[in-house]
Amino acid sequence: MSVLKSFDLTGKTALVTGAKRGIGRGMAEALASAGADVVGVSATLAPGSEVEQAITAMGRTFTPYQVDFADRSALTAFAAQLEADGIKPDILVNNAGTIKRKPAAEHPDDWWDEVIEVNLSSQFVLSREIGRGMVERGHGKIIFTASLLTFQGGITVPGYAASKGGIGQLTKALANEWAGTGVNVNAIAPGYIATDNTEALRADEARYSSILERIPQGRWGTPEDFGGPAVFLASSASDYVNGEILVVDGGWMGR
Ligand SMILES: NC(=O)c1ccc[n+]([C@@H]2O[C@H](COP(=O)([O-])OP(=O)(O)OC[C@H]3O[C@@H](n4cnc5c(N)ncnc54)[C@H](OP(=O)(O)O)[C@@H]3O)[C@@H](O)[C@H]2O)c1
Repeated sequence: MSVLKSFDLTGKTALVTGAKRGIGRGMAEALASAGADVVGVSATLAPGSEVEQAITAMGRTFTPYQVDFADRSALTAFAAQLEADGIKPDILVNNAGTIKRKPAAEHPDDWWDEVIEVNLSSQFVLSREIGRGMVERGHGKIIFTASLLTFQGGITVPGYAASKGGIGQLTKALANEWAGTGVNVNAIAPGYIATDNTEALRADEARYSSILERIPQGRWGTPEDFGGPAVFLASSASDYVNGEILVVDGGWMGR
């Protein structure tokens, strides 16, 4: 069989959180282009979104759900709703995330709590609820979205750095438990990507230039840069890859 066939996602259902914009949208569209139907989730996603239009134009289905991952009861209700709607994802992309910038000495409790809930705790809960069915069925692909701050501490984003460090460990913890059941758990760690998440950094000319100078490839990343890595980790091309944190950063971590 041609190895290209192993990247084919025809007949698979991919649930992508934060699919409305940015990196999540880039990954959702790439998974659809490889053949997957997509279930999109985000805080404000409504029927008729741009991502929905792009995916249905490819001949794939797109099912939108609106969920605030800062609200644990809304997340639990969403997991129950998926079950009631008969949705059994083959692929789960945990991508939705938020960031709050303020020096540690002034960083408020509610910002810390919100970032940890959205970026870490909700991702564990959703992975547990969807992963249980994957384990029972004997197959599944879970992709977390880590960060350079899974490895580095960052500046003025203590909650974010802690949440992304946690995602690195959660990736390995779930991979250790589920690799033997046919469920692969891995993560993608984006470098510096031009999305709403990095708007403040890009608006600060000095930070923008100093970051750009350190990227060996000489440019910031785009959501489209995540299509290939997401399809790889979502497909049987990566069946023997477990607990890996795939850095997609134009070479930043190599310096
Ligand atoms: N951009 C970077 O340089 C970079 C670097 C490393 C890691 N990452 C990670 O990559 C992921 C995507 O980031 P991005 O840059 O694409 O960010 P983005 O453009 O700000 O998009 C974030 C997405 O997450 C959703 N989201 C945020 N808070 C949510 C909540 N409480 N409940 C439900 N959905 C929520 C948003 O929903 P709505 O659209 O409905 O608001 C949006 O679709 C995040 O986990 C981020 O930490 C990004």
